[in-house]
This record gives sequence, C-alpha cells and structure tokens, in this order.
Amino acid sequence: MAPSPSRLTGAFTTLKDTILALIDPWIFLSLSASYLPTTVLSLLRKRRFLALLGGPLLSSEFQSVWFGHFWSRAGPQVRSNAEANVVPLLEGRVSKGQVVPKSEAHAPGVGGVVLEIGPGSGMWVSLFSDDKYLKDEEEEEGQGGEDDAEEEGLSASWATITPSSQQQQQQQQQKQTTKKVVGSRQRITQVYGIEPNYGIHPLLQHNIAQAGLSQTYTILPFGIEDIERYAPQIQPESLDCIVSILCLCSIPEPQKNIAILYRYLKPGGRWFVYEHVKCCSSKPGGWFMNAYQAFVNLFWPICLGGCQLRRDTGRYLREAGPWTDIDLAQPPKEQWHHTVPHIYGILTK
Ligand SMILES: C[S@@+](CC[C@H](N)C(=O)[O-])C[C@H]1O[C@@H](n2cnc3c(N)ncnc32)[C@H](O)[C@@H]1O
Repeated sequence: MAPSPSRLTGAFTTLKDTILALIDPWIFLSLSASYLPTTVLSLLRKRRFLALLGGPLLSSEFQSVWFGHFWSRAGPQVRSNAEANVVPLLEGRVSKGQVVPKSEAHAPGVGGVVLEIGPGSGMWVSLFSDDKYLKDEEEEEGQGGEDDAEEEGLSASWATITPSSQQQQQQQQQKQTTKKVVGSRQRITQVYGIEPNYGIHPLLQHNIAQAGLSQTYTILPFGIEDIERYAPQIQPESLDCIVSILCLCSIPEPQKNIAILYRYLKPGGRWFVYEHVKCCSSKPGGWFMNAYQAFVNLFWPICLGGCQLRRDTGRYLREAGPWTDIDLAQPPKEQWHHTVPHIYGILTK
C-alpha cells in the first residue's frame, strides 16, 4: 500500500529539520570566520604582530580578539534564542529541564552574593538588576496580590538558606529604601563576573552601566582557574549563587575547576546551569550524533575562542561534591539531531 500524502509530508518535514539542524553549526562557524579580517585589522592597528604570527591555530590572543568581535554580533542572537530558558532559570522556575510555574519551583532564584562565570559581553547582566524586578512587582501589584502570597510561602519554606549576618544587615538596609523583590527571585547584594577576555571588557562594562549595576557588579579580569590566587575577597563557602551560562565549555580543566568552584558555594547555595554538552550515546541516533559532534569539534574550538563541544559537564557538576538537590536535565524539546545539546537546571549544595 502506498504511503498517504500526509505521512509523506511528515517524513519530508522531519528530513528537512534534520538536515537543517546538522547544517546549523557550520553556519555558526562561517559567521565566526567572517570576523577574521576584522580581527587581523584590529591586531594590526594595535601593533600586536606576535599575536598575528601565531594566528588562529596557535595564538590565544588571536582567538580571544576574534571571539570578542564575533560574540559582540552573535551574543545578542544567542541571547534571544536562550532567553526563554535563562530568564526563568534565574527565577528558580525550572524543573526536569523545563520551565515551571513559581508554585512548582524547587529552589529560590538567584540572589545574595553571586558569581557569574564567563559573562562575555554581558548579555545576561541586566537580569541581575533588582530594579527590573521591582518594576515588575509594581506592575503585578496593580493586578492583585497573588504573587506576594506565593513569595511569602516560598520564603518560609526556604528559610534554612540564611545569608550571613553581614549580608542580612545589608539586605535590611536595602529593604528600608526599596521594596521586596517579586516572585522567587532574591535580592542581589554583589555580583562578581569572572571574565579573562580583556577585549570584551569594554562592552561588558557598558552593559553593567546600562543595567545600573556599576556599584554591584565587579569584573574579575582572570579565569576561574585563578580565583584562589587573585580573588582573596571571595572566601570559600561565601557565595549564595553561581551562574554559568554557556561558559563551562570554555574553561580549562573543567573537572578540577568545577570542583574548586563548588567549594566557594555556601551550604544551601545554588548553581544555575545552562550549558551545552556532549551528545548522549544512549539516545536514539546517539552514536551518529557523537561521531558528527566529534567531527564538528575539530573546527569549533578554533573558531569560537576555545569552546569545546564534547564536555560531560553534567557529570562534572554532579561529581563536584555532595549536593542536597540536583535538578539538571536536557530540555525535552531538544531533538536527537541537536549537535549542540544542553543541560539545564539548578544544583543546591
Ligand atoms: C560562549 S561565551 C559565553 C558568554 C556569556 N556567558 C553569554 O552567554 O553570552 C564563553 C565565555 O567564557 C569565557 N571564558 C573562557 N575561559 C574562561 C575561564 N577560564 N574562566 C572564566 N571564563 C572563561 C570566555 O571569555 C567567554 O566570554
């Protein structure tokens, strides 16, 4: 019996989606390659001839400058694709890889003293502004007090996660001048953005100022592998939250450095994760996607500032130390043919 037209159309759509998904990483790489001339020109202008001699294969300076140019263009696009995941994540509204209503949230949202790893050009910096949430609250108050009641319920059930007395004092002072933060999002007292790519700092600084966070957000100009050496102001077990958005793919020795960062979280602290990872071998088509991803990864780190596609970041995070709650999963809507699959969720120490 001949297949019906609707089945044929369905098969054609699936095939088309699969081919487009497989081509997608190459389009991203080509876009990055289109920034090579700008990179060369900017290094020539700065007389960084040694960086030019090493070129994209050898010189880390070349790769950083190249990535900085590329990300200033690609970052906003990546942000608009990821926003629907990242905004609720920082509000704590994620479970099993999916966005859930506030009432079903497992953990409080981001708040207190926060470390943002690899903020890049500061695509997510505005989410650390309490002002935005206060404005939202005013709007919601106009529509009724449902969320207030919900917040009080959440705060009570999370009362075990208490800030230090110094932070409590700071929070108290802030409460006298401003109103409480809406929903499960907590008040932020300090953000450290640890970003080793100097070339991207002016744009990051600009976005910090735009978000009104010049007093709250401090750039740490080195990699997380140097946090113990260069950031004495951050003590072990002093962070309320760590935020890692598409950056653990780029850090050196991820297993070792993720375990070091774990020690900086307070008991009860949360690690908010949206990261891309290696394809899962046990899924249908997993062997093919693993081989394909390994092939793409021959070119990917060169063109994208050292970003690695093949990291088992979920495992590194789970094994970093004991957690009281791990809510980390691949978003179910990501299909088998994603060359850049994600893990998404919150780990609570
Ligand atoms: C793909 S970008 C993501 C930037 C940002 N999180 C975003 O979503 O727009 C990865 C970032 O990690 C940063 N990075 C690379 N090595 C790092 C390290 N050792 N420590 C901290 N950040 C690092 C890069 O400079 C880059 O800004």
